[in-house]
Amino acid sequence: MNLFIYDNPAAWAAGIAELWSERLRSNPGLRQCLPTGKTPNSVYAEMAKRVKSGKTSFAESTGFLLDEFGGLSPEDPGSCNRMIRDELINHVDLPESSFHLLNAQSHDLEQTCREYDQKIGAPLDLVILGIGQNGHLGMNEPGSDIDSLTRKVELHPQTIQASARYLTHNNLPTWGVTLGLRQIFQAREVWLWANGASKAEILKQAISGPLTTDVPASLLQKHAHCTFFVDRVAASALVKFA
Ligand code: PGA
Repeated sequence: MNLFIYDNPAAWAAGIAELWSERLRSNPGLRQCLPTGKTPNSVYAEMAKRVKSGKTSFAESTGFLLDEFGGLSPEDPGSCNRMIRDELINHVDLPESSFHLLNAQSHDLEQTCREYDQKIGAPLDLVILGIGQNGHLGMNEPGSDIDSLTRKVELHPQTIQASARYLTHNNLPTWGVTLGLRQIFQAREVWLWANGASKAEILKQAISGPLTTDVPASLLQKHAHCTFFVDRVAASALVKFA
């Protein structure tokens, strides 16, 4: 596992965007899994600028949405579909046909999840993740099976509370659909992005704590090509590194 620490959030976003552009240059057909939430937005804004100025392109790449909340309309500003479109997809040159979302509205979720797994097929080139304050990856909450595939999950109470930050109403989601831990750990490369003081404590557990499914992010310590990208504030509890 690699750990990259940046001096401030601006350097963090710019540094990640530079590396991501490099990956797209060396592998234009990059098959990547994309997260939503507050964390990725500044990186997505950097990538949009780079696409606009011709410095990078998603044109030949493929994107898979990491997860989706249940019970929200796809147009709800708090749905992962809307967040990824508003923050990235609508501002870059990734073709609509190469972007795959998770339809949590499906009447047959099990079938939808199986089809998603089939679309993904071979291991992804790059899975990008945020981290929940309980150490979740996507919506793989503490206790998730290391071998899990795309599936419906019940959300941890902390995740339900955290979702309020994305919503303009009080109908907080209690479940979701998520890419599984198996697909995350099979990816050729995994990036975890985190910044700010609220992620400091869980990053300490993920990076220097024991490997345990109680903290799904800690399992990334074993991935051969995993990098944690953090700013100095998020790294502040990592005494050994900061
Ligand atoms: P956040 O969410 O980026 O909004 O903090 C991250 C996550 O829950 O994985």
